[in-house]
Amino acid sequence: MRTARTLPRAAAPLEFMTESEHPRAIRSFVTRAGRITEAQVRALEVLWPKYGVEFEPGTLDLDAVFGRRAPRTVEIGFGNGENLATVAANHPERDYLGIEVHRPGVGRLLLALEEMQLSNVRVICEDAVQVLARQIAQRSLDEVVILFPDPWPKKRHHKRRLVQSAFVELAADRLQPGGILRMATDWQPYAQEMLATLAASPKLRNLAVAGAFIPRPAERIATRFEKRGERLGHEVWDLAFSRI
Ligand SMILES: C[S@@+](CC[C@H](N)C(=O)[O-])C[C@H]1O[C@@H](n2cnc3c(N)ncnc32)[C@H](O)[C@@H]1O
Repeated sequence: MRTARTLPRAAAPLEFMTESEHPRAIRSFVTRAGRITEAQVRALEVLWPKYGVEFEPGTLDLDAVFGRRAPRTVEIGFGNGENLATVAANHPERDYLGIEVHRPGVGRLLLALEEMQLSNVRVICEDAVQVLARQIAQRSLDEVVILFPDPWPKKRHHKRRLVQSAFVELAADRLQPGGILRMATDWQPYAQEMLATLAASPKLRNLAVAGAFIPRPAERIATRFEKRGERLGHEVWDLAFSRI
């Protein structure tokens, strides 16, 4: 017999449930222990209160989080955060929320934020699907950026890919009209899948002149995974779609 404890806490659709709410929930990442430096561990302790935002299943008041109202970008899966920190430094008039599950990467970004004395960046260490579904209000973002999401190349792992239609509808729903959803990948089959998935969304319009990919945005910083792709001789595909 099902008891109240086995029922989902919130009325989230299946694809947006947490692992504890639905043990077979498929996530776009696996939690790796990974190497973490002492400096990163210390950053997670000391700097988290300054830049970190806790995951809680309630809508965030982003004006209160940033202490002002400004155009807002969310970068999902920022890795080491090199793009996020640099773009935030170049745009003090905008606010940036980074979402990443890999703690060493979060620690590394925190160290960079402190060194660069940036006040327009906040960080959440949690599954971005959960954060968008539960913490981010509809039509509250100006930009969502996803750079080099895990391609999960094996067919049996395709179900783990972040960019799927349910996720795209969720991200589009969090953008305000005119807001932009940006992606880049160096994995051609995933690039084609992203293009088809984004193009199929009734909420989005392709900003590419030819209706396919856009030229590499000059402002995008070469991340660790982009550089890795370059070393392997991979091409890179950029996409930009606006919220209708
Ligand atoms: C291939 S790496 C790319 C990192 C970085 N954007 C870059 O270009 O170097 C993908 C990153 O996304 C993160 N990630 C994957 N799924 C995520 C999710 N649902 N929520 C938050 N982070 C996620 C992983 O931890 C990993 O750091």
